[in-house]
Amino acid sequence: MNPALLTRDALTQFASENRESFEHELKTLVEIPSVSADPAHQGDVRRCAEAARALFERHGGKAEILETSGNPFVHGWFGEDPSQPTITVYNHMDVQPANEPEWTAEPFSFVVDGDTYRGRGSTDDKGPAVTAFFGALAARRAGVPLNIHFLWETEEEIGSPSFASGLNLHQARLKTDAIVVSDTVWITRGKPSTPAGLRGLKGFRLTLETADHDLHSGVVGGAARNPLAELIKVVAAMMDGETGKVKIPGFYDEVVKPSKQELEEWANAGFSVETFKKDHMITGMRTEDPLKVMKRVWGRPTMEVHGVVGGYTGPGIKSAVPPRAEVKLSCRLVPAMDEQKTIERIRTFVAKHFPDVQFHEEHGLAPFSGHVTGPYAEAIKDAYRFAFDAPCSFTREGGSIGAVKTMEDLLGCQVFFLGLSLPSHGYHAPNENYDWEQASGGMAAFAHYFQTVSAIKH
Ligand code: BES
Ligand code: MN
Ligand code: MN
Repeated sequence: MNPALLTRDALTQFASENRESFEHELKTLVEIPSVSADPAHQGDVRRCAEAARALFERHGGKAEILETSGNPFVHGWFGEDPSQPTITVYNHMDVQPANEPEWTAEPFSFVVDGDTYRGRGSTDDKGPAVTAFFGALAARRAGVPLNIHFLWETEEEIGSPSFASGLNLHQARLKTDAIVVSDTVWITRGKPSTPAGLRGLKGFRLTLETADHDLHSGVVGGAARNPLAELIKVVAAMMDGETGKVKIPGFYDEVVKPSKQELEEWANAGFSVETFKKDHMITGMRTEDPLKVMKRVWGRPTMEVHGVVGGYTGPGIKSAVPPRAEVKLSCRLVPAMDEQKTIERIRTFVAKHFPDVQFHEEHGLAPFSGHVTGPYAEAIKDAYRFAFDAPCSFTREGGSIGAVKTMEDLLGCQVFFLGLSLPSHGYHAPNENYDWEQASGGMAAFAHYFQTVSAIKH
């Protein structure tokens, strides 16, 4: 190993020398619209996996596409020395749809605007993936004695439905000492954080049909049922729209409150409501108290209404009674809530009070409780401090990554997080972006991380 190639200065130089190559590789991936939610983009998802595989070969690594019952995995690696430890980096190559009207350029064109990179998937999660990849190149160049593997899935944004079976199928080749995920968000720029937990997610839909077609509200209105109005009543019975409080009996029963130590860590994480609002461009909040905001997003479960379908939505008013309606909802779950228990509570409540409303269960992801101590957790903290010259705090994420718990359960190792995205990068939002500060610092953080964990006794 040549530690002179792993000093902060040497890694800054490595990043500069490789900037053009980094931008080229990220452009190639961002310009493939790998939208996993849209069947029309299935070919693009596969093309993206192929492009990701080719990336390893261009840079002296190896990679294969691993088939699953759904979209494939990309498994890439540098080094195959059985006497050395193995670390696996997880990212996802699929992206959210990009149909928002606020995009200022074509969402699947890669726009370089000074140090900012714009395009769907630039920060979630192709930018961090390519950053970790270049971090690995830096570590390999310096001779870090570590096998570095990459597992890139292509169904994360739809809840990783084929991940567990795919992992079972390819388990032998994916054996690893630990996993590091780069798919999470800092508190704000300059304030790295790594999650000690992720929320889970359980989706469901309610539908109600009371007629065959639109009816004249003057002719039948008053006597005919209105399915749209009734579903709104169901929602109001399940939750308070103003406070967010869920009214389903037992909903909060299993929630584990954050510990005193955890709350202290949160209080010192540099979180500010003002910055939170600015980063996300939020104009209205349920509370302006910082600790309450953190508790609500990281430590409490929610019920959210995502969409209401039904009735007339064109210009003006059509004075009809709609025949059917649908509401799309989901709950974010925190440790130690159980997705099945939660959905059964909701189903029972709806069946009891609104017996002819149809209940449709959607996919679910378990919440995740992480690890904040031990050499791998320390290595994450060291890597952030080394690369960004700032302390990192263990907070939690309000979001969900389906693969995380599955990897711990099926690969029998621990998962850690070295995320690089910022709130202002706009996850899932129009004009999603990533930037060179996070990329160049991220390369140094990953290179340092690989160096540190290569020395952990296995
Ligand atoms: N990278 C996010 C997860 C995330 C979100 C981490 C917010 C930290 C903060 C991931 O790509 C994602 O968007 N997950 C979805 C999963 C869902 C579609 C099944 C989520 O959380 O909604
Ligand atoms: Mn992501
Ligand atoms: Mn996402």
